Amino acid sequence: MESPNLIIIFGASDDCKKLINELFPLELCHLIKIVAICDNDSRIHGQSINGYEIISPDNIINYKYDKIIVTPIFFQDIKRQLVDLGVNSEKIYPYRKNYKDYFDTTSREFGNSSIGRFSYFKPNSKIWNTNIGSFCHIGDNCIIGQLGHNPHLISTYPLRYHFSNEISDCSLDPTADKKKMLKTTVIKSDVYIGEGVVISAGVTIGNGAIIGSKALVTKDVEDYSIVGGVPAKIISQRFSSNHIKKLLEIKWWTKDYSQIAHMITDLEGSVDDFINNYFKINKK
Ligand SMILES: CC(C)(COP(=O)(O)OP(=O)(O)OC[C@H]1O[C@@H](n2cnc3c(N)ncnc32)[C@H](O)[C@@H]1OP(=O)(O)O)[C@@H](O)C(=O)NCCC(=O)NCCS
Repeated sequence: MESPNLIIIFGASDDCKKLINELFPLELCHLIKIVAICDNDSRIHGQSINGYEIISPDNIINYKYDKIIVTPIFFQDIKRQLVDLGVNSEKIYPYRKNYKDYFDTTSREFGNSSIGRFSYFKPNSKIWNTNIGSFCHIGDNCIIGQLGHNPHLISTYPLRYHFSNEISDCSLDPTADKKKMLKTTVIKSDVYIGEGVVISAGVTIGNGAIIGSKALVTKDVEDYSIVGGVPAKIISQRFSSNHIKKLLEIKWWTKDYSQIAHMITDLEGSVDDFINNYFKINKK
């Protein structure tokens, strides 16, 4: 009998548990063997998931393996890290073939949505009919462009699935909320959406806005506002209206790669310094 393929899973997240379950039948047939789980978080080294030990990336060198499967969406970064640690790049595989849908430096399209350069979302989030700008980050378990059943009918239940053979596609379901189906959701640029946020179809989220975790956003959100709650309400404005005006004039997220690389320290500093330095360097 051939010896099993030896696997290390990178990333001790929910996706790791999902992958272990998917690999279980192969492990039963001795086609593969999971030898360890590897993670960058030193707090969990030495713990285990389903009996597999969590090790540090530095420790990989002490293991025999044929493949490393990377579960997080930051595939390129992790690949680079592993190659620096001496791992042969041909042994490193992404868990998801389409990881670039979730995290990439270029603009891309998926389903009926589009997402701008450098923006990313976690794989458990669901996004429909939404246009997302650049440099946005969207947490786990978000539902964006949420639709549903038409609340104005006597029953919202999709009866025709069971009582007639007419419906094969949910867009043909007469109980689908057609008004919302036609509405595109817009998330502008530099937006931070926390974990577990739900955004109704047709809402526009302004540039630089922050949506607090677990918010249910049913109305448009202004540029640089922080909102939270169910339904979401304004918690605060990130900056004064004068600063916001200037930031929207600069639109740092539209700059090219090298310009942004030069701005990083300022982008992490105070809004006054950022605006002053920007206009000093870019005198009109
Ligand atoms: C919204 C958020 C950015 C606010 O951060 P902050 O300005 O440091 O907030 P503070 O903790 O100082 O709280 C400020 C106020 O907002 C409220 N608040 C904070 N987070 C909230 C949320 N998610 N929903 C509703 N209200 C919230 C606080 O109760 C407080 O109210 P008060 O002024 O009446 O006392 C942050 O709480 C948040 O939700 N971040 C996302 C976290 C997340 O999802 N992480 C995973 C993905 S990276």
